[in-house]
Amino acid sequence: MVYSQAKVIAGGLAHIPIVIGIFYFIMTFFNKRAIDYAEANKPKKVEKKVVGKNVTEKKVVESKIEVKKSSSVNTEIKTEAPLKVENTNIETNSNIVKKPMKKKHADVPVNIYRPKTPFEGTVTGNYSLLKDGAIGRVNHITFDLKDSDPFLNYVEGQSIGIMPAGVDANGKPHKLRLYSIASTRHGDDFAGNTVSLCVRQLQYEKDGATINGVCSSYLCDIKPGDKVKITGPVGKEMLLPDEEDANIVMLATGTGIAPMRAYLRRMFEATEKEKNNWNFKGKAWLFMGAPKSANLLYEEDLQRYLEKYPENFKYTKAISREQQNTKGGRMYIQDRVLESANEIFNMIEDEKTHIYLCGLKGMEPGIDEAMTKAAEEKGLNWSELRPQLKKAGRWHVETY
Ligand code: FAD
Ligand code: A2P
Repeated sequence: MVYSQAKVIAGGLAHIPIVIGIFYFIMTFFNKRAIDYAEANKPKKVEKKVVGKNVTEKKVVESKIEVKKSSSVNTEIKTEAPLKVENTNIETNSNIVKKPMKKKHADVPVNIYRPKTPFEGTVTGNYSLLKDGAIGRVNHITFDLKDSDPFLNYVEGQSIGIMPAGVDANGKPHKLRLYSIASTRHGDDFAGNTVSLCVRQLQYEKDGATINGVCSSYLCDIKPGDKVKITGPVGKEMLLPDEEDANIVMLATGTGIAPMRAYLRRMFEATEKEKNNWNFKGKAWLFMGAPKSANLLYEEDLQRYLEKYPENFKYTKAISREQQNTKGGRMYIQDRVLESANEIFNMIEDEKTHIYLCGLKGMEPGIDEAMTKAAEEKGLNWSELRPQLKKAGRWHVETY
């Protein structure tokens, strides 16, 4: 009996290493699973360019991996499920929008200055952009940003807010108005501390009296040395793609040329090119709508780019009160778009092509109509294609 008890105890003790072994094996297995899971979900380090005073500087920023619920919108997914097409005679648009992923542009500056604490910029220049015989008043206005702290930096395609001096009918300070930035991040003098705008004075008749817009009149009247309250920058809708071989189609009416002027300077202005380290190799096509030839904005610069870069730059004008469309009406940019429908859609079929619309809100239906007709000629369905281009970050609209 004594002998058997000792045997049982010894036998029991002999099992302890086996139990520990099994326990260790289970622990190791679950630990590995936990580590693999954590690894797959931890934030990833991504290299991104930093914009601002030092535009070439690079910085490592943290960005979380996003798990998309939808399978159709993801840069890593190369192919798309076939798209629903209403008209079966119209070929699928899926060949055109292969990568339906809009970039987030997390590194683009926004709202450095807000209405409660605007930056007071000093006017350095304010001159008319119009020639003799032009209609209305359109000025190019530049502000010095050098003393802003934090520095008010921006990139091409953004807007700033202007808070006009004075008070409204209720005795309250005027609300800010937005204006598209017409300069590149390096400014017109390439020193990197100014911002320029292209402003049309709003004027209309009411009850026999001429009404002048508050902020646009304030801006057209300001003098060098004046201080102006500036907010922003804002907007990520009109940013240029990073790719040097992108194609950029621009549809502008009037002051809608402001962001386009910045893009074209970035692409073709010699000193700008030296500074920005971005060697544009694609095609840029500007459709410009103006009432008269004397109202064409930045015309000398555009002609210079045409001469120097005939392979990369195309410029089509619609001068509404001097030219007629095929129906005998005023020539608008949508009429020009229709004339070049085939070429435009050949460009759109290339996924490196982006389209930018800026200016009068009223042009949107006309452009849509023209694009619908142009798409039909290519066997495409514009009402389906446009949202896809938008989702892919290739259709950019800023109208007002
Ligand atoms: P306000 O004094 O505010 O008067 C405007 C008001 O007048 C309208 O709201 C309307 O109620 C009334 N009104 C206007 N026209 C008529 C009419 N014909 N009959 C009766 N009532 C009328 N503008 C530029 O010049 N350049 C730009 O680059 C530019 N970029 C912009 C970018 C964005 C994103 C946005 C949203 C707007 C942009 N604008 C631009 C427009 C600008 O913000 C102002 O709206 C414009 O300058 C008019 O402001 P205001 O203070 O002069 O007019
Ligand atoms: P118009 O005024 O002759 O009708 P600006 O801002 O300098 O006035 O220029 C705007 C240009 O856009 C003008 O040529 C103007 O023509 C034109 N325009 C006006 N309405 C539309 C519209 N719905 N679609 C396209 N262009 C338009």
